[in-house]
Amino acid sequence: MAEEKKFKRTLVTTALPYANGPVHIGHLAGVYVPADIYVRYLRSKGEDVLMIGGSDEHGVPITIRARKEGCTPQDVVDRYHSIIKKSFEDFGISMDIYSRTTSKTHAQVASDFFQTLYDKGEFVQKTTQQYYDEEAHQFLADRYIMGTCPHCGNDKAYGDQCEKCGTSLSALELINPHSTISGSKPVLKETTHWYLPLDKHEPWLRKWILDDHKEWRSNVYGQCKSWLDMGLQPRAVSRDLDWGIPVPVKGAEGKVLYVWFDAPIGYISNTKELRPDDWEKWWKDPESRLIHFIGKDNIVFHCIVFPAMLKAHGGYNLPDNVPANEFMNLEGDKISTSRNWAIWLHEYLQEFPGKQDVLRYVLTANAPETKDNDFTWADFQARNNNELVAILGNFVNRVVVLTHKYFEGKVPEAAGLLEIDQKAIEDFQAERKEVETLLDGFRFRDAQKEAMNMARIGNKYLADTEPWKLAKTDMARVGTILNIGLQIVANLSIVMEPFLPFSAEKMRSQLGIGKQQWEKLGDMAIMPAGHQIGKAELLFEKIDDSVVEAQLAKLAAIKKANEENEWKPEPIAETIDFSAFEKLDIRVGLVKDCQKMPKADKLLVFKIDDGLGGRTIISGIAKYYKPEDLIGKRVLFVANLAPRKLKGVESQGMILSAEDANGNLSVVMPSADVRPGCQVK
Ligand code: MF3
Ligand code: ZN
Repeated sequence: MAEEKKFKRTLVTTALPYANGPVHIGHLAGVYVPADIYVRYLRSKGEDVLMIGGSDEHGVPITIRARKEGCTPQDVVDRYHSIIKKSFEDFGISMDIYSRTTSKTHAQVASDFFQTLYDKGEFVQKTTQQYYDEEAHQFLADRYIMGTCPHCGNDKAYGDQCEKCGTSLSALELINPHSTISGSKPVLKETTHWYLPLDKHEPWLRKWILDDHKEWRSNVYGQCKSWLDMGLQPRAVSRDLDWGIPVPVKGAEGKVLYVWFDAPIGYISNTKELRPDDWEKWWKDPESRLIHFIGKDNIVFHCIVFPAMLKAHGGYNLPDNVPANEFMNLEGDKISTSRNWAIWLHEYLQEFPGKQDVLRYVLTANAPETKDNDFTWADFQARNNNELVAILGNFVNRVVVLTHKYFEGKVPEAAGLLEIDQKAIEDFQAERKEVETLLDGFRFRDAQKEAMNMARIGNKYLADTEPWKLAKTDMARVGTILNIGLQIVANLSIVMEPFLPFSAEKMRSQLGIGKQQWEKLGDMAIMPAGHQIGKAELLFEKIDDSVVEAQLAKLAAIKKANEENEWKPEPIAETIDFSAFEKLDIRVGLVKDCQKMPKADKLLVFKIDDGLGGRTIISGIAKYYKPEDLIGKRVLFVANLAPRKLKGVESQGMILSAEDANGNLSVVMPSADVRPGCQVK
C-alpha cells in the first residue's frame, strides 16, 4: 500500500466523451456522477480541486458519421458538443471547464507534446503495408474496410472487428476486402508512422502499478496486470487521415495524431485554457494529485499509455488513482448507441423534468463499481418511492411542516435533551466518519447508502418521539424534538450535496440557510433558535406504475424494431441443376383431420388427402396452431421424403412452413383451391 501522502490540491479529470452522439445513463453512471460526487465532496471540505472535462472530437467514427450524413466532421462535433455540454450542465455535473479537442489551445498543446517526444527520440519510426483506396486516393482506416470474416463467414465484417462473432481482426485478415468509401478493392501500400515503444517502458510501469499502486480498484489493477503480463508492444501514435491534429514533422503531410494520443493531452489543454497562468502547478507540482475518472474500456490508455507519454515527456505527475467503473447495462442488455438501446440524458429530462437527482441517486445506488450492473425501470421506481420519497423526502417534509404548524416557521428552543434525543444525535454523528472513509476510498455506492442511513435515523427519531401527539400536552418537548429534526435536515443538506445537489439546495432554501461546509457535518446548532425557515416544498414525488410501463413499452418497441432490422435471410444454398430439382416432389394436400400427438407437446398428426388415397404426416407446429383451425385447409408437403417414425407413428412426408419475426412457424398455404395431389413446380 502506498504511504499516505498529503496533497495540496487535486486535479480530477473525466473521460472526454466522443462528440459523435449524445450521452446516456451509462456515461453518467460510469464517469460523470462519481467524479462529480468526489469533487463536490472535496470542495465542501474546502480543498483546492479542479474538475476537467471536454469533448473528444477527433477519430475515425466522427468522419464516418459525417460521410453518412453528408456533412463535415466539424458539423458533427459542433452539434454533439453542445448537446453533451448541456446534458452535463443539466445534471449538475460541476465541471470547472468543458472544452473540446478542436480548440486552438489543444492543437498547440498536443502538437508541442508530440514535438517534444519526437525531439527527445522517444518514438520509433516504422514503415508498414496498409490498405489504400486508389479511387478515393487515401489510406483506409480499419473501420473503412469491409470484407468477409475468416472465422464466421460474415461478409460485413470490419477491418478491426467482426460484429457478428465478436472476434477482433486486422484488416489484412479480411477475405475479399473492399473500401466502404469507393467500394473498390484496396491495394497494399507502404506508409510510415511513429510508435511509442511501450515495451521500453514496461519495467517501470510494472513497478509503478503492480508494486506501488496495490490500492487501486481490483478491476483496474487486474486489467493492468494482464496487459503487462502479456507483454507491451510499440503503439502507433499517428494515422493516415484528414481529420485530426497534423503531425508536426517534415514529410508527415496527410498524417494526423492518433485520436488516443491527442485526447488525453486534452486534459492538459483544457486545464491550460481554464488556468492560463498556473495550469502547470496542477500538472507538475509533486504536491498536486491527479485522479482520472473513466470507464473500464479506457483503462489501458489511462494506466499504461498516457502515463508512458507523460513519463517520456518528463516533468508531469502520474495519476495517483484511476477509479474506473465497469459497465451499466439497461434492462439486462448492453447499452448500445447504434441499436438505440440507451436512456439518453436529454430525453430523460424531457420525460422527467426536474428529476435529475432521482437518476443520479439510482445510478449511484447501482454504480457498477466492481462489476457490470443493471439499470431497470422497476428499480428506478422502487428506489424513488421507497427511499427518496418515503425516507428522505418524508422526513424533511414532516419537520418543516410541523415547524410551521406549531412555531410559525421559527426554529424552536431545544431544552433538556432526553436519552432518546442523545442517542439519535450520536447515531447520526457517528455516520460522518463512515461516509468520509467511503468517499475517500472512491466507494460512492456505499457512501450514498450511509448518507441515506442518516436520513433513516432522522425518520426513526420522529417516528419514535411522535411530536404531533405531544402538541396538546408538552409544547416545550415538541420544540426540542423539532429543533433536533431541523438540525438534522440542515446536516442532511451537507451530506447529500455531493450526491443530490438539487435536493440539497431545496433543503437549504426550506431552512433559509446558505451552503454549509463539510466541517459542519454533525453540528447540532447550525440554525439558532428563533431563525425563520422557508416554505415547505416536496423534494420528491411518487412515480406511478403507468410511468414505468410506458418506459418499458418504449424499450420493447426499440427491441422489436432492432430484431426486425437485424434479421437477414440465410445465404442462398449451393446451386443445383434442374435434374436435382426435379427429384423433389412437392404437392398440394387437403387437411382432412388434425390432432395433437398424445404425450408430445410439439407434434400434430395430420390426415392429408393427397388425391391418391391419403397419408399421415406429423409436423412439429403444435405450439403455433389449434389443430381444428387447420382442418379443411390446403397445405404444401414434400411427397417423396423417406417415411420415418415419430413416437411410434409413421410420418409420410413433410408439411412446409416458414418462420415469422417472432420465431413462430406459419404453414404455407396456396392462395386458391388447387386440387389435392397437384404437383408444385
Ligand atoms: N472518447 C473516449 C471514449 O469515449 C475517451 C477519451 S478519454 C481521454 O471512450 F483520455 F482520451 F480523453
Ligand atoms: Zn466473424
